[in-house]
Amino acid sequence: MALYAIGDLHLSFASDKSMDVWGGNWVGHEQKVLDVFPSMIGQDDTLVLVGDHSWGRNLKECETDLQFIMDLPGRKILTRGNHDLFWDSRHTSKLNKLYKGKLEFLQGGYAVYGTTALVATKGYADEGNDPPERVFQLKDRELMRLQDGIRKAKTAGFDDIIVFLHYPPTDPGQERSLFTDCLEKERIHRVIYAHCHGEEHFHDSLMGNVRGIEYDLVSGDYRNWVPLRVL
Ligand SMILES: [Fe+2]
Repeated sequence: MALYAIGDLHLSFASDKSMDVWGGNWVGHEQKVLDVFPSMIGQDDTLVLVGDHSWGRNLKECETDLQFIMDLPGRKILTRGNHDLFWDSRHTSKLNKLYKGKLEFLQGGYAVYGTTALVATKGYADEGNDPPERVFQLKDRELMRLQDGIRKAKTAGFDDIIVFLHYPPTDPGQERSLFTDCLEKERIHRVIYAHCHGEEHFHDSLMGNVRGIEYDLVSGDYRNWVPLRVL
């Protein structure tokens, strides 16, 4: 039994947004996933997909992409990314009903992996795309979701918690954020995030051990389509 993580599959089987245009590790990345994942991940293993699964604008346009993910080996837990337009955060339970036994959609709560709680929310990093009042709102809402997920896991008796954020834990180039303050206060030791793809963004945020927390970036192109073994 092992726990793996990777993010930013950005599939586009039913839309015209192939990631091949980005070159490098993106060229034919779907085939790399098909070649690599089954050789590493067994049916008893768990794979956390850390957001930005599909370019589809609604569930209909995502069906083929979600089927591709369903066909990968092991238990699949999907967290929410900024491009997952098919996933309305108010209707996560609807998605879970629809894909019961096939995919798990995790946003703002926690999933159980052995004796470890996996807490996930999208997070937010200010990349200059939103006006200041919106940035404040988005950070505040995501911070609440993070706190809520950690509180629920702790209330259920979990000491061992891994946090998954889609966005990096800080704004680009920053050392601290409301999120890192919360994670440190809650004594979290492991944080996994994605979203930073393209070489110029790989070092946008924290990596390695920072103030007692181990941070790992798992965007697919950064990992060259090899999932990170977390546990
Ligand atoms: Fe993203």
